[in-house]
Amino acid sequence: MLAIDADPAVGLSTALGITVSKTVDDVRNELIRQVQSGKATDKAEILSMLDYEMFSALEEQKNIAFLAIGRPEKEGCYCQVNHVLKDLIASMAGNFDYVVIDGEAGIEQVNRRVMEKVTHLILVSDASRKGIHVVQTIQEVSDSAIAYEKACLILNRLRSAEEWEKLLIPPVLNCLGWIPEDDTIRSYDIDGRSILEIDDSPVITAMKNCLAKIGLQIAATP
Ligand SMILES: Nc1ncnc2c1ncn2[C@@H]1O[C@H](COP(=O)(O)OP(=O)(O)OP(=O)(O)O)[C@@H](O)[C@H]1O
Ligand SMILES: [Mg+2]
Repeated sequence: MLAIDADPAVGLSTALGITVSKTVDDVRNELIRQVQSGKATDKAEILSMLDYEMFSALEEQKNIAFLAIGRPEKEGCYCQVNHVLKDLIASMAGNFDYVVIDGEAGIEQVNRRVMEKVTHLILVSDASRKGIHVVQTIQEVSDSAIAYEKACLILNRLRSAEEWEKLLIPPVLNCLGWIPEDDTIRSYDIDGRSILEIDDSPVITAMKNCLAKIGLQIAATP
């Protein structure tokens, strides 16, 4: 599985216990430096360097390969570089059975078409009215900006079944269910431990149940 952290805050790496040494943005800056200094001129040479750099940006943890995007692309500049990098990420993704992209909160990335094609668009919100409203906006924008097969919503950090039962969620959001707030995850967070160390938790069970509804299975990590 390939996990791509598309959030510039790079929070997914911490949750997975991965230290990021190089991001796609670092690769981009390095390439721009090389081209500007006249060091890299041959197209084939540049491509093979990029290939190498991108693979060296891949981190591995258990059965997960991990790639951090770093800072978002600057719109308008270095268009060609961004295109080449997007193509490289796409061809890299082709080597994996599953690719999970953790996006930045909000509509910004959807608007900029950071991910243009996904099979499953999974939106996650807390139970707040504000959160559900944001998710609705994201889904509306996604309808025109992203080619997806299935879209759904999962609610996270609910404190009780009563909380869930009281919620009015627009059916168009295809809400799969809810995930409880879990003290084990909280304490792992406080200690900065990886969630991959958790064998079993109500959160994992709830996630499995939700994802099964759209035909996705979570395998146990070895
Ligand atoms: N069900 C849960 N129980 C306990 N803690 C949780 C739960 N879900 C998430 N957290 C913790 O809450 C924090 C924020 O979660 P997470 O990073 O998933 O949010 P996010 O929506 O991706 O935030 P952002 O919008 O900043 O990307 C993390 O430290 C995470 O471990
Ligand atoms: Mg996040």
